[in-house]
Amino acid sequence: MRNRLIVANWKLNGNWAFNEMMISELSAGLGGVQSHDHEIILCPPAIYLQQLNGLMGDIPLLLGGQDLSEHFFGAYTGEVSGQMLKELGCRYTLVGHSERRARHQESNELVALKAKAALACGLIPIICVGETLEERESGKMNAVIQRQIQSVMECLEDDISQVVIAYEPIWAIGTGLTAKVEQAQEVHEFIRGVLREYSELSAQKISVIYGGSVKAANAPILLEMPDIDGLLVGGASLLSSEFLAICLSS
Ligand code: G3H
Repeated sequence: MRNRLIVANWKLNGNWAFNEMMISELSAGLGGVQSHDHEIILCPPAIYLQQLNGLMGDIPLLLGGQDLSEHFFGAYTGEVSGQMLKELGCRYTLVGHSERRARHQESNELVALKAKAALACGLIPIICVGETLEERESGKMNAVIQRQIQSVMECLEDDISQVVIAYEPIWAIGTGLTAKVEQAQEVHEFIRGVLREYSELSAQKISVIYGGSVKAANAPILLEMPDIDGLLVGGASLLSSEFLAICLSS
């Protein structure tokens, strides 16, 4: 039985007042959802983790970072370590989001080191993978995704079953274009096949979640797919009613 997750990536959004309002509205809407079979994880900008941690009380929400340093301490200006995320109450952290791969030149090798650092700090890395439209259309999609996963798996060795994989087709992020549910399922099945090359047990255990223009309208059908174990939600996670509807769909 795989863990099921709904992850909100707030990206560079939020402020003190917005955060308070979101927690209050999510709290009211989630009321008795403790028995729900999804973990719900909020990934705000790191600067707001402490505020959210204080506001969450016993609301059934978890916290995650959006990124972390591959280093644990030292002269790395502007970086946030896994230990710092942990101290601020995180259980998870995103790693290798496509916006970081593209805008901060994060290579597969760096993403792998970040995933390793997360695990060393007791965090569960949510490793983001996915292809551009050009890679999909030129038939390179599977090779790109396979390489993204392999570099992490080779670096983590015995710890591979401790991670979550997020499949996000880059062409579907923030564009309103969602992969057709069959396309998403097909890639998730492919990812599970890549994991199987390392360990059958890990392939069965690792949660693989989908991201890319997820909304309340398409969440239920995505979650019905056998290899889709949850959702990574960007824009729609900033609207409490929309995000609540996503959390309550399955
Ligand atoms: O991390 C979230 C993804 O980048 C998806 O963002 O839901 O705004 O398309 P989106």
